[in-house]
Amino acid sequence: MAQRPYIVGNWKMHGTRSMLAEARAIDRAAERLIKVEVALAPPATLIHAIRKEAGLIGVGAQDCHAAEGGAHTGDISAAMLKDAGADFVIVGHSERRADHCESDAIVQPKARSALAAGLAVIVCVGETEQQRNAGEAERVVAGQLAGSLPQGDLVADKIAEKIIVAYEPVWAIGTGRVPTVEDIGAMHRAIRAKLVEIYGEAGAAIRILYGGSVKPENAAELLAADEVGGALVGGASLTAESFVGIIAAAADRDG
Ligand code: PGA
Repeated sequence: MAQRPYIVGNWKMHGTRSMLAEARAIDRAAERLIKVEVALAPPATLIHAIRKEAGLIGVGAQDCHAAEGGAHTGDISAAMLKDAGADFVIVGHSERRADHCESDAIVQPKARSALAAGLAVIVCVGETEQQRNAGEAERVVAGQLAGSLPQGDLVADKIAEKIIVAYEPVWAIGTGRVPTVEDIGAMHRAIRAKLVEIYGEAGAAIRILYGGSVKPENAAELLAADEVGGALVGGASLTAESFVGIIAAAADRDG
C-alpha cells in the first residue's frame, strides 16, 4: 500500500497547556520521521493551541455533536472544531459508547456532520471481551461498521481521505493486553471486506488503524499485522518519548 502509516494519539481527558511541550516535541519528531503521518487528538480545549504550536502534525477532536449548532449546552459542533483548527474528529470511541450511551444511531450522524463540516472522521469499532469469548467479535464489529459509518452523498469521492476506521477491542484499551497478531489480521481482513461491501472498490483504500495498549515495545509487531494501516494510541501518546517510539516503529515498518 502506498499510503503512509497513520499514527494518531488520543489524549482522552488528559492535558492542559503544560503539555504543549510534548506536542511540540512530537511535531519535531514527525518532521524527521516523514514516512509516517502523525496526528494528535487532544481535549478540545487544546486544539487551537496545538494547531498553532505544532504545525506539521494533524490535530483532531475526540467527539462532536451531530447538529450544526443550537441549544445543546456543553456540546461542540464539527464546524466549531474545524474553526478551532481541527482536521479530523474521532467518533464512536468505546469510552463514549459506554460513558454516554452512544449507539451506532448516535455515532453515524456525528460522522456525517464531521464530513459535512470538512473534517475527516475516525470511526471506532470493537468488541467486548464477553463478545469475543462468545465468538461474536466479527459479527459485532460488522454491525458497528454498518451502523456507524457515514454513507450517501458526503462520501461520493475521496473516501480514503475522509474516512478512517479504528479497530479497538474494548478489553485491550488501557489494560496492557493485546490480541494476537493473527487475531488482529483476521479482524482487519473482515473489516476490509465489510468496507468494500459498503463503499465498493473505494473501501479498499480506507485506512484501518489498530488501537488498544499499543506501546513502543509492541508497536512493530502490531503494525506488521495484515491490513493494519496505523495505530490509535491512548496512554502511550501522552509523552513525546513513548509516542515517538511508536512513530519510529511505524517508520521502520516500510523499510
Ligand atoms: P490505550 O487506549 O492505548 O491507552 O489502550 C487506546 C484508545 O482508547 O484509543
